[in-house]
Amino acid sequence: MSDHSSDGGRSALLFEQPASFEFTAENLERAKYHIAKYPPGRQASAVLPLLDLAQRQHDNWLPKAAMDYVGEMLEMAPIRIYEVATFYTMFNLRPVGQWFLQACTTTPCWLRGSDEVVAACKRKLGIGVGDTTADRQFTLVEVECLGACVNAPILQVNDDFYEDLDGPSTEALLDALAAGKPPPFGSVTGRQGSMPATGKTTLTEFPPAQNGKSNDAR
Ligand code: FES
Repeated sequence: MSDHSSDGGRSALLFEQPASFEFTAENLERAKYHIAKYPPGRQASAVLPLLDLAQRQHDNWLPKAAMDYVGEMLEMAPIRIYEVATFYTMFNLRPVGQWFLQACTTTPCWLRGSDEVVAACKRKLGIGVGDTTADRQFTLVEVECLGACVNAPILQVNDDFYEDLDGPSTEALLDALAAGKPPPFGSVTGRQGSMPATGKTTLTEFPPAQNGKSNDAR
């Protein structure tokens, strides 16, 4: 995985960190649910979902107080928590914008025009990779494969994937996000599933019916 922080996350300590953190009652129940999946003494196995819960509760970034809180809950030494949080790039160690843009630039997306997507973000938002806009609306990072290569290039916006993008469609997406009206996620060209861009090339006819049963495979 790539490290999308320009400094490996070390500058997180330069931001104002909250003095304390604790789960909401709802998230505390969720945390207990995750911990209960593992045998007694193995509660540390729940570290990833608990850090994810903490990050979601805290505006999509993970302050040190939250890491320490999760560490205490799981009876893990603080260094063990920091090791996990700094290793996985899905954890943001400093504040990010309301719309967290993760542009995939790995080979399949690159071959399908991810340079245009990144350039459109930079042009439209006036920021570089790793930066956040002054109004805190957008953060842009580059990431490795998001696992959706068939509909490349991909821009992940918070939890959603926007697919089959190019420069103009990326700019239109950013306009919609800035207006607080995120469009439906998925392929922006409207192709279904991962069929070829020119339409189906296989399974274009219904197979013959068998045993008197219809094979309506639509
Ligand atoms: S290379 Fe971009 S989703 Fe796989």
